[in-house]
Amino acid sequence: EMANSSTGILHGKKVVVTAGGTIERIDPVRYITNDSSGKMGFAVAKAAKQLGADVHLIAAHTDEAPPEGIRTEKVNSAQDMYEAVQRVFETSDIVVKAAAVADYRPVETATSKIKKRGETMTLELVKTTDILESLGRQKTSQFLIGFAAETDTVEYFAKDKLKRKNCDLIVANDVTQEGAGFGTDTNSVQIFDKEGLVLQLPVISKEEVALRLLTLAADRLSGRSS
Ligand code: CTP
Ligand code: CA
Repeated sequence: EMANSSTGILHGKKVVVTAGGTIERIDPVRYITNDSSGKMGFAVAKAAKQLGADVHLIAAHTDEAPPEGIRTEKVNSAQDMYEAVQRVFETSDIVVKAAAVADYRPVETATSKIKKRGETMTLELVKTTDILESLGRQKTSQFLIGFAAETDTVEYFAKDKLKRKNCDLIVANDVTQEGAGFGTDTNSVQIFDKEGLVLQLPVISKEEVALRLLTLAADRLSGRSS
């Protein structure tokens, strides 16, 4: 349970959260996706509501049920997600990009089922729009939070992404670690800003990670040091 002092710290703030793994269609019966469960992003959306925010959740593929009382917009592809985020970005105060966005999508989506032919087949892929990088370029007063799931060299890659995408905070986790990453109910993260490590959290529930992250963001937004 949160301390009473945290109640309502995001009151009057619009928080946009993206969650889940995008789906990139190959044909009507096949697609490319990833192991994202959507749990971290949904936990962030629920925590934001708990802290009093006006929450808009943009959800790609996930087994999580739409959280009660939270505006949830379902999307499939990285492109859909990009367009959905674009529509709400300007009026948002905090944007949390917890989604696992495909880096590449098929150049073409076949309208009929692709038939089996030769011994090998090649699927041509093209880069998707990097949503977070695009938001980082557009941002005015929005507080931008990115995620970095890594299997090694966590700090180096996380800091590089934070800089490259012009984020205010980046939440890094080592998905090879016990109790962290895809599909688990817990997470162990390190939060960085431009200066370096801000917060190192032990293995705790994704709900708890979400509350700690948003409390930090709220503190920074209101200009208090934390
Ligand atoms: N992201 C995004 N749009 C993309 C790819 C990633 O908005 N097309 C966001 C993710 O939602 C996440 C952050 O960027 O908040 C980092 O994603 P990650 O996959 O770790 O970074 P990449 O820049 O794609 O680098 P790589 O996959 O090579 O590690
Ligand atoms: Ca990626």
